Amino acid sequence: MFALINFSYLTAAVCFILGIKGMTRPSTAVRGNQLAAIGMLIAIVAALLHKDVISYATIIAGILLGAAIGIWLARRTAMTAMPELVASLNGVGGGASVAVAASTWLHASNVGILGSTGWAVAIIASIIIGAITLTGSGVAVAKLKGSIGDSRIPKIWQLVTLVSLITVVVIGSLFVAGGAGNPVLLGVAIGFCLLLGVGLVQPIGGADMPVVVALLNAYSGLAGAATGFVLDNQGLIITGSLVGASGLILTAVMCKAMNRSLPNVLFGGVLGGDAAGGTQQDEGDFYAGKVKYATPDDLALLLDGARNVVMVPGYGLAVAQAQHSVKELAGELESRGATVNYAIHPVAGRMPGHMNVLLAEAEIPYDQLKDMDTINPELPRADVAIVLGANDVVNPAASEDPSSPIYGMPILDVHRARTVVVVKRSLSPGFAGIPNSLFIRDNSLMVKGDAKDVLQATTRAMKEL
Ligand code: TAP
Repeated sequence: MFALINFSYLTAAVCFILGIKGMTRPSTAVRGNQLAAIGMLIAIVAALLHKDVISYATIIAGILLGAAIGIWLARRTAMTAMPELVASLNGVGGGASVAVAASTWLHASNVGILGSTGWAVAIIASIIIGAITLTGSGVAVAKLKGSIGDSRIPKIWQLVTLVSLITVVVIGSLFVAGGAGNPVLLGVAIGFCLLLGVGLVQPIGGADMPVVVALLNAYSGLAGAATGFVLDNQGLIITGSLVGASGLILTAVMCKAMNRSLPNVLFGGVLGGDAAGGTQQDEGDFYAGKVKYATPDDLALLLDGARNVVMVPGYGLAVAQAQHSVKELAGELESRGATVNYAIHPVAGRMPGHMNVLLAEAEIPYDQLKDMDTINPELPRADVAIVLGANDVVNPAASEDPSSPIYGMPILDVHRARTVVVVKRSLSPGFAGIPNSLFIRDNSLMVKGDAKDVLQATTRAMKEL
């Protein structure tokens, strides 16, 4: 039976790896997802065959309750709130690792068989990483929802975070050195780690949340892998390591996309540096009478003569659910002989690949989606670039204003197009909370309104020309 279980875990791991590989291309993503789900089913069945399983009734009750909560959550979560859901799931994963490691330790301690030094390291690693992930993810969710802002934390709180960090390292070492037998050390470690999760994530700027969520995802995997060592469960070790490794790779990709260094994101706020995002400025003064407004009819006239058009989707396109409307306008333009491409910024929207998923839903051909490095050299040749609910990812301050919180983040150079048309509902800032000088450029026009309404009105106006 033991060999069969381990063989099943190996099969599940192969399914996971092939699944992740499938998810790297839109055309194979659905199959990749299905393969990974089959792998998870195999892993669950294998885990249930384990000799340590003594009560199937409790497990079935847990599965039913978990599935009910999962289905309810997934159904009520809007596409735009996916990052919050992902961040919550990271936290739940971290919390589960703490609970399993603590209960395993309690059981071993009650029967008087504490494990080796390696086992003690695995217990404390599960607890440290899991507890930090739990509260860190809670703060990340609150920041993504906008429930808590980026106000600079008081110096005393920075000190608490630093003391917590040192305490956790010392207590963890003492716990392992003492043969994992001291419950007080374990309890204190859990308390300080929960505090540390809050202290480490709170000072990180809102605009850096994509990096933080990717990192917390990696943490939840690493906590799971450590719990695998606690339970001596190969399936959990492999799965946790895969999540940890892919989360770390995603973190590196996100850092590169935003031109941020990981230490700067993680410790910039704690050490008193500049965290990106959240500095709301008075947009009234900034724009004061300098924005040139246009109507959908004006836009239709402009597009009538355009040969090369670039659509620039952002978070607002997802809010407006305007993916089908943008395809309709693109179809109208193409029927008049224009070339239409879509400029995709890696952190546009609120989750990695957000714009790709959104445009794929409207079956926009994948070869029209151009990543930032491909489209930027093309933008000076674009007759019109239409910015659809994007803001931070097209803000020239990122390359021109060293005092800007997003300075250094690569952007889509839409301001280099012959004409830029910005479609949004107001002059409100984007996620980073800062004004955008794109709106007051000489070659810039703004069409105020919901992206879907503006796109539909423009398509109608073009058909009437
Ligand atoms: P944002 O900078 O957040 O700007 C979105 C804009 O959409 C807003 O200015 C808003 O202006 C407009 N909008 C909202 N609803 C709209 C609607 N119905 N119709 C038209 N416009 C609408 O978006 P972005 O340029 O995509 O940048 C993404 C930001 O989110 C970056 O700062 C990034 O760091 C951050 N972030 C990204 C991720 C990932 S992984 N992608 C995760 C978390 C955070 P109005 O209200 O005036 O309409």
